[in-house]
This record gives sequence, structure tokens and C-alpha cells, in this order.
Amino acid sequence: MLALSGVEKRFGALAALDGIDLAVEIGDVLGIVGPNGSGKTTLLNIVTGVYPPTAGRVAFQDTDITGWAGHRIARLGIARTFQNIRLFPTMTVFDNVWAAQHGRVSGGLFGLLRSRPAAGCGDARRVDEVLEQVGLLGDREVLAKHLPLPARRRLEIARTLAVDARLLLLDEPAGGMTPAETADMARLIHEVVAPGRTCVVIEHKMALIAGVCSRLCVLDFGRKIAEGPPDRVLADPRVRQAYLGGEGEPDA
Ligand SMILES: Nc1ncnc2c1ncn2[C@@H]1O[C@H](COP(=O)(O)OP(=O)(O)O)[C@@H](O)[C@H]1O
Ligand SMILES: [Mg+2]
Repeated sequence: MLALSGVEKRFGALAALDGIDLAVEIGDVLGIVGPNGSGKTTLLNIVTGVYPPTAGRVAFQDTDITGWAGHRIARLGIARTFQNIRLFPTMTVFDNVWAAQHGRVSGGLFGLLRSRPAAGCGDARRVDEVLEQVGLLGDREVLAKHLPLPARRRLEIARTLAVDARLLLLDEPAGGMTPAETADMARLIHEVVAPGRTCVVIEHKMALIAGVCSRLCVLDFGRKIAEGPPDRVLADPRVRQAYLGGEGEPDA
């Protein structure tokens, strides 16, 4: 579904990604793990067209998308969430998902409000269905800024579900969450998001990775140092050294 070959990204003298080869198969839930600054978000940014790679190719379902603009890549069916949540804070939960479903609505916010659906129309039902799936239907008229963090992250996921993406990229979906909230997020990804979809999940929390990912790719200083089934990868001495600082268990 997605293939990176020889992908490199430089920011001045820094090689944030250095020769990454990676393949994501249909139905995979691929976890990308690695220490802070190892290049995980940069990798998502390259796949979603935030900026082009310095070298290398990115292919999505046999189409070479290297250097394509973000909106064109999104139209192919790639959706993502952000490590620093990006929602419309002064819009309701419903309108946040509605806006995602309708892309950039012409006329900005006013255009969006004018285009607001009649209750019960097909698109509105789809938004409600997605809100129900992520457990936010009861909050549909709440402003996004009034939601607690776990609900804001679920709302971001709802926005990706509403566009029926073929590939979902989640950047630290449990970032800033307590262990109990992380377990809830793992359950949501495992039971609602992953079935029937292909996902790439960036995360360093074991509770989430272990319960969710079918395969792991480990980055360290912009290079891929291991890849494979989670149990094998996490037992790899090089991974333990890089990722766990050689100290045994990672933070849960
Ligand atoms: N836009 C940018 N300009 C300059 N340096 C950047 C930029 N984005 C990321 N970096 C650097 O690239 C490296 C990888 O960052 P990032 O991909 O965000 O890591 P991760 O998500 O694994 O924590 C870091 O050293 C970071 O400081
Ligand atoms: Mg990051």
C-alpha cells in the first residue's frame, strides 16, 4: 500500500531521516517507535506532503507521490492526526468532523456554517455514526476547546474516519495520557480504527504498541534499526540500547 525507498530528509546539516526503506501492506497496523527526535513525525510529514524528501521515493498504491502537495495526497485517501492536536477549537464536535468530511469549505467558517447539513441527511448521519464509534455522540454540540485531552484525540481520529481514508497515520494518539486513558485509546484503535483499515501508529507507550501493532519499525537518529513482530523487535539488544537507553523497561 505504501512504500518508502531511500528516503532522506535534511534540515540544514541535520539528517532527520537517513535512507529509510519501509513497506506497509494492506491491513497492517505498523508501529513506528524510537526516542524523541529520531525522525518519526518527519516520516509522517513526508508521507503526507508537508514537505518533500531531500532524496528517495514515496509510493502509495503504485503511484509515485514523492513531492506531491498535501491536499493531493489527502485526496488519494491518506489521513492523519497530529502530535500537537489540530482541531477548530471554537467549533462544535459535530462541525469539526463535518469540516473534515467536506474538505476545505469555500468561504471559510461562514461557508461551512451555511453548508451545515439538514438533520438526518446522509452526510450528517455519517458524521453521527463516526461520533458514535469514537464515543463522542453525546458531546456532538460541545465546543472542541471544552473537551478533555483524550476526547480531543478521539475527535481527531473521528475526523480521519469520516473521510474514509485507506491509510491512517496516527502521531502519538496517546500522547499526554494517563495509563488508563492510554488503555482506552489502545482499545479504540484495536476495535474501531484498525479493523478493515491500514494504519501507521507512532507511539512509544508499550501499553498501546503491545495491544495494537502487528509489526514494529524502530528509528534511531533517522535510521531504521529494526523491523518485525513486536515481541522479536523489543527483545533485540540494539533496540533495547537505543530505545530503552539500555535500562530495561520503557515508560508504560
Ligand atoms: N521543520 C524542522 N526544521 C528543523 N529541524 C527539524 C524540523 N522538524 C524536525 N526537525 C528535527 O528533526 C529531528 C527529528 O524530529 P521529529 O521527526 O519530530 O522526531 P520524533 O517525532 O521522532 O520525535 C529532530 O532533531 C528535530 O529537531
Ligand atoms: Mg514526533
